[in-house]
Amino acid sequence: MEPILPGAPWLIAHRSMLGVNKPHKITLNTHDYVIWQNQKGEIFAIDNICPHMQAPLSDGWICQERDTITCPFHALEFDGQGRLYREDKKDTQLITKPLELIISNDCIWTYAGFEPKLPIPDLHQRIVDEYEFIGVSGEKSIKGDFLSNIMVNYDYNHQNGTHKELFKITSCDVTYFEEKGYYAQVKQELIRDNNTLGELLKNPILGILPKTLTNTLEYAFPSTTVLFAKTPIGNIAQIHILYPEVEKRTKTFILMYAQVVNPLMKFLFQNSVLQAAATVIEQDTGAVESLYPKQKPKIRLPNEEIMFYAEKLYRNW
Ligand code: FES
Ligand SMILES: [Fe+2]
Repeated sequence: MEPILPGAPWLIAHRSMLGVNKPHKITLNTHDYVIWQNQKGEIFAIDNICPHMQAPLSDGWICQERDTITCPFHALEFDGQGRLYREDKKDTQLITKPLELIISNDCIWTYAGFEPKLPIPDLHQRIVDEYEFIGVSGEKSIKGDFLSNIMVNYDYNHQNGTHKELFKITSCDVTYFEEKGYYAQVKQELIRDNNTLGELLKNPILGILPKTLTNTLEYAFPSTTVLFAKTPIGNIAQIHILYPEVEKRTKTFILMYAQVVNPLMKFLFQNSVLQAAATVIEQDTGAVESLYPKQKPKIRLPNEEIMFYAEKLYRNW
């Protein structure tokens, strides 16, 4: 497969997703890498294929004293730069490829070895400056190509179907859309009905959502979609991340940030807000996974130019 959007900055994980001295497998544009964080908070990523006899290093283990990863097959050790580690001497030669990482505000970015075509979006910095990190939610590998997944985030009609039940949406209106190259901003007004008691127990966050939701969405193509929403107990910035794993599989997760005044409220708010985000992801990804192969649409809906703007960025990359 041709790499998808080479030169794009991809946000492959948040530090909190890694734990300490635990190897994780990451697939980006068909390449498998193993990534881990040591007890000092240093993060390493190298090719997941062992250069000896091609075992997956992510099934191995980390040696805390030597800062190495051990292959599960014959127990050879490699350091985070991709050098073979023998007895107490390190080979100076790289034997396997390290993945170059850029760590910014606990977010782990990479260009996967391609010439950078876009900078790391400053949208993330703006959020970190004003909001507090709440947690990660909705991590999932979606059966669906990158384009179909990203288009959902720019689709201002899918709320009417995909999220109708959850948010009891009765109407959805786009009041503003502006794009500047790879950055775009949208303002949206959603009118909702009351939720039933059962729905409120399942997703308590619904109870505090007003009848009319005025949301702002900001986009940094292709990795990032942010939903800014105001709720009576705090403002949230919900960052939706996407990156291509393989041609027909896309990774997603949500980084949740909030401005909450009261610490008790934060405690109560945290879980329900993360839970609601996970439900939204389930619904979006469920929609993509159920689609038949793409054809030329025979019907147009309002505001679809926002979706076509994203599609154009993708096709003209
Ligand atoms: S395959 Fe990794 S040590 Fe042999
Ligand atoms: Fe959605």
